[in-house]
Amino acid sequence: MKVLKVATAQPYEIWIGGGLLTEVPQDLPNLISTRTLALISDETVRELVTEDLARLLKEAGFRAEIFSFPPGEASKRMETVVELARAMVRAGLDRKSALLAVGGGVTGDLGGFLASIYLRGIPYIQIPTTLLAQVDSSVGGKTGVDLPEGKNLLGTFYQPRRVYIDYGVLSSLPLAHLRNGLAEVVKYGCIASRELFEFLESRALSLLSYDPEALEHIIYHSCRIKAEIVSQDEREGGLRRVLNFGHTLGHALEAALQYEILHGEAVAVGMVAAARLSELLGVAEEPVSPRLESLLRELGLPVRFPEGFPPEEILSFVWSDKKVWQGRLTMVLLKRVGEFVFYENPPERKLLQVIKELSE
Ligand SMILES: NC(=O)c1ccc[n+]([C@@H]2O[C@H](COP(=O)([O-])OP(=O)(O)OC[C@H]3O[C@@H](n4cnc5c(N)ncnc54)[C@H](O)[C@@H]3O)[C@@H](O)[C@H]2O)c1
Ligand SMILES: [Zn+2]
Repeated sequence: MKVLKVATAQPYEIWIGGGLLTEVPQDLPNLISTRTLALISDETVRELVTEDLARLLKEAGFRAEIFSFPPGEASKRMETVVELARAMVRAGLDRKSALLAVGGGVTGDLGGFLASIYLRGIPYIQIPTTLLAQVDSSVGGKTGVDLPEGKNLLGTFYQPRRVYIDYGVLSSLPLAHLRNGLAEVVKYGCIASRELFEFLESRALSLLSYDPEALEHIIYHSCRIKAEIVSQDEREGGLRRVLNFGHTLGHALEAALQYEILHGEAVAVGMVAAARLSELLGVAEEPVSPRLESLLRELGLPVRFPEGFPPEEILSFVWSDKKVWQGRLTMVLLKRVGEFVFYENPPERKLLQVIKELSE
């Protein structure tokens, strides 16, 4: 098992290991003083993971109640938070309870948000079960829900007491969702670790066949990189924006396609665009986009904007993104693989040129 420390104001540890979930019941008393637990999961994860975990917890003397909701992003909204909270109140979960968010990023964001406001806040623990959640959303303490007006518009910063990452649970994860998480791992390689990038290049096939040792390696290094970044910038004022590499155009593409594309797929295209822009603007000191493109192709991720979207339309979504503030757009570009730079207001015609170049 591997352990990482996250040095936020309220520090916590990330534990990473295969089969780790069996150790949760004996470790929990080190984190929380209560024996009353609300396990939050979507219905798919409930059957695959949470019911077994609840059984182990009960055997160890905990009261473990599962509260579930239908899977999917559509559940990440205030109505679900209210329904879960009401069910928890009816079940008698008081201020001395703790919450375990067991599932993908939807469950982590929703469960963390609920924990942060339930009876003015109860302790919570993250048990991520998708690769995306294991390498990204479970680390950093951002919680929240969507509004019809946009994604993640309501939320809090609320750090978990611990994150348990058991990559054994990934064996049931559909390949598309494995790839979805791999896109974020590629991102960490691009911005912070040439070694991680090269590991991905050399072990792409092992990863696509769910090789546990390769998964452990990428999860550990992804969490290490994200933990270092969020420790230095807990509330997203500065450095944390580096995590947006590939996300400026990625988010624009997601919005243009009305979210009918997996986040990681959109980010893959967005990363190629950012790499290409780095070259066009003379920021890149080595060719980065061809190498990035072939890695993403190897991993089965898209590298081109889909047909039928005029570049101007995609660009219009860049300007409506909540991260563009008072018309100022800070993009994350690459100096080389493993090294980023912030770049203010890239010229619009260069952005258009890149989107045109990368359209199918
Ligand atoms: N808080 C953050 O910093 C942060 C960062 C990135 C993304 N996010 C959020 O994460 C969400 C996306 O996360 P996601 O992709 O994990 O989505 P998700 O939680 O909807 O999970 C994807 C699908 O996988 C299923 N699933 C989960 N674990 C499984 C398993 N082990 N085996 C089989 N199926 C399994 C789920 O039931 C669901 O259908 C978005 O809402 C996004 O905004 C948050
Ligand atoms: Zn992302």
